[in-house]
Amino acid sequence: MNILVTGGAGYIASHTCVALQEAGHNVIIADNLCNSKVESIDGIKKITNKEITFYEIDVTDEEAVDIIFSNHDIDGVIHFAGLKAIDESVRNPLEYYYNNIVSTMVLTKACQKYGVNRFIFSSSATVYGDNKVPFEETMILLPTTNPYGETKAMSERILTDIANANPAFSVSILRYFNPVGAHESGLIGETPSGIPNNLMPYVTQVAKGRLEKLCMYGNDYPTVDGTGIRDYIHVVDLAEGHVAALENLTEGVHVYNLGTGKGTSVLELVKAFEEANGIKIPYEVVERRPGDIALCYADASKAKQELGWTAKRDLIAMCRDAWRFEKNHKE
Ligand code: NAD
Ligand code: WQD
Repeated sequence: MNILVTGGAGYIASHTCVALQEAGHNVIIADNLCNSKVESIDGIKKITNKEITFYEIDVTDEEAVDIIFSNHDIDGVIHFAGLKAIDESVRNPLEYYYNNIVSTMVLTKACQKYGVNRFIFSSSATVYGDNKVPFEETMILLPTTNPYGETKAMSERILTDIANANPAFSVSILRYFNPVGAHESGLIGETPSGIPNNLMPYVTQVAKGRLEKLCMYGNDYPTVDGTGIRDYIHVVDLAEGHVAALENLTEGVHVYNLGTGKGTSVLELVKAFEEANGIKIPYEVVERRPGDIALCYADASKAKQELGWTAKRDLIAMCRDAWRFEKNHKE
């Protein structure tokens, strides 16, 4: 299939482009590089040794998107492009609503015009709010504490309404848990700008000596060791989940959790990183981070049953691969 991958130069999408190409699909990337670099596309090409068509465009730009659809016989769209920094979304909600919602509308409009009926959307476990774990796809979505989360819930609603009105339109909504790690080649990975918000890139930068120590946000949660529990998933497993979703897509709207189904605490992740890489990670326990929840992990059984997909790589592989990329990566 010819697959349009929006945000294809980004962290999760670049790994998905590799998985798509390895599964025999052709990839067309649309990215405005607002949070990525063209080098990641070079990385994809080095790994797969295949060509990629790249359009440096903003996917909220209707005319630019139309040109791609008219130039290629597109079979499906995987829509990753989006802004994702939660605190920035609180400070600048309009930018987030505009970018993340309008992009979804522009792309679905082009799909309708050109008769493209396969659409896969990057959603997030954040839409579950503080429901009871494990999170199941059938749960009522709870309001999130930030505009970013609202853009994901709203995009899900828009896609569901469009699919309900157009029975041929097939949509897969993928709710990611906490993607970490990197391709084992070390050629592509996560490159956050500035000081990382997320745990794993913070830990790898402490390991590199760029940051002095990890600030652990609270150790008084009702969890095994008091630190927050998350469902960390290797980004290559997540990428393979997209291929499974694409290849098993049927009419209607389908929602899948892409997680391991296993919760890991912040302390456990730090210990695993130290064990995997033989590097000590100094840390200090500080106040809880506003907006954080104690527990977040998936019920991952639906994706297993319907897509035949499960995450295979363990926490040690996630830590080893995250560090390999960080170590090799030049700023
Ligand atoms: P990323 O920032 O690495 O990738 C997003 C890409 O989209 C970037 O390359 C950016 O340049 C591009 N982009 C953004 N707006 C665009 C626009 N208007 N037009 C064209 N390109 C645009 O982020 P990621 O972590 O790879 O996330 C990918 C998707 O998955 C996002 O939609 C994100 O919200 C979602 N998601 C991420 C996580 C996570 O923890 N990383 C978890 C759940 C969901
Ligand atoms: C993980 C754990 C922190 C940093 C976020 C979004 C979510 C999704 C994934 C997009 C928590 C603790 C973290 C640090 C720490 N993104 N922590 N010190 O918050 O679970 O999820 O990214 O959709 O929507 O909310 O991920 O990696 O920031 O935090 O102690 O410096 O690590 O408190 O328990 P989070 P995270």
